[in-house]
Amino acid sequence: MTFFPEMPATQPECIAPDTWLIPNFAPAGDGLLLPVNSMVIRGREPVIVDTGAPVHRALWIEKAFSVVEPEDVRWIFLSHDDGDHTGALFDVLERCPHATLVTNFFAFERLAIEKPALPLSRMRWLDPGDTLDVGDRVLQLFRPPIFDGPTTRGLFDPKSRAMWAVDSFACFTPGPLDAEVLDAEVLAGMTTLCSAVSPWHAWLDRERYVRHVDAIEALGARTVASAHGPVLRRGALDDAFDRVRALAGAPLVPLPGQELLDSLLASTLVEAAG
Ligand SMILES: [Fe+2]
Ligand SMILES: [Fe+2]
Repeated sequence: MTFFPEMPATQPECIAPDTWLIPNFAPAGDGLLLPVNSMVIRGREPVIVDTGAPVHRALWIEKAFSVVEPEDVRWIFLSHDDGDHTGALFDVLERCPHATLVTNFFAFERLAIEKPALPLSRMRWLDPGDTLDVGDRVLQLFRPPIFDGPTTRGLFDPKSRAMWAVDSFACFTPGPLDAEVLDAEVLAGMTTLCSAVSPWHAWLDRERYVRHVDAIEALGARTVASAHGPVLRRGALDDAFDRVRALAGAPLVPLPGQELLDSLLASTLVEAAG
């Protein structure tokens, strides 16, 4: 069952060597969709990177386990404890008995007050700057440039040069998940969503923030996937880093308010009357 049956069907997509995007969509209005992605790294010790949103739970399970056999999964990397990244977490823990959950102290504390207890013996707590050896590659954790949860850690795979940027680079899309085929107007929406996700950007010291973003860019990713945006490569990736750098000290991008709610209610009433 899906909560959004009218959403376009999507399939896992190989976006870099050994690296699969697990896509889903939620409606965003005006013909646009919000991507709700996660990722699988199918190396010697397969890694599930985030577990989707609760509304996509059944779809997520079907897609993720079409890419990797549950008993082969050795690691579950949880970027942070937000609900849209933990949708199938307990299904994965149950179905993947050989998997260790990679999270951190504060995510564990936050999850403890809203979810069943996590198994202490099946966890590893890692912080930005730490690494995770998964057999044929050593993954690097970092704090992404844009985030909406304090526990957030991104993941960089130096072997495939693929990066999981979590809630950074969010952008509504009319359908495509490849930034290189999206028009400039659609990609401009990334600035709005980045501002919405991390509204503290208005207080940032530009020089210090740019140093942080530069350090992430210097990891050398060729492919950047994120939970709520299109896959970024080449020029689109350069533009995305420039977009977040430009947010330092910039005013908040205004978001829709009561007027949008009023118009949504009005159109619902018109539909009901029709
Ligand atoms: Fe989040
Ligand atoms: Fe998210």
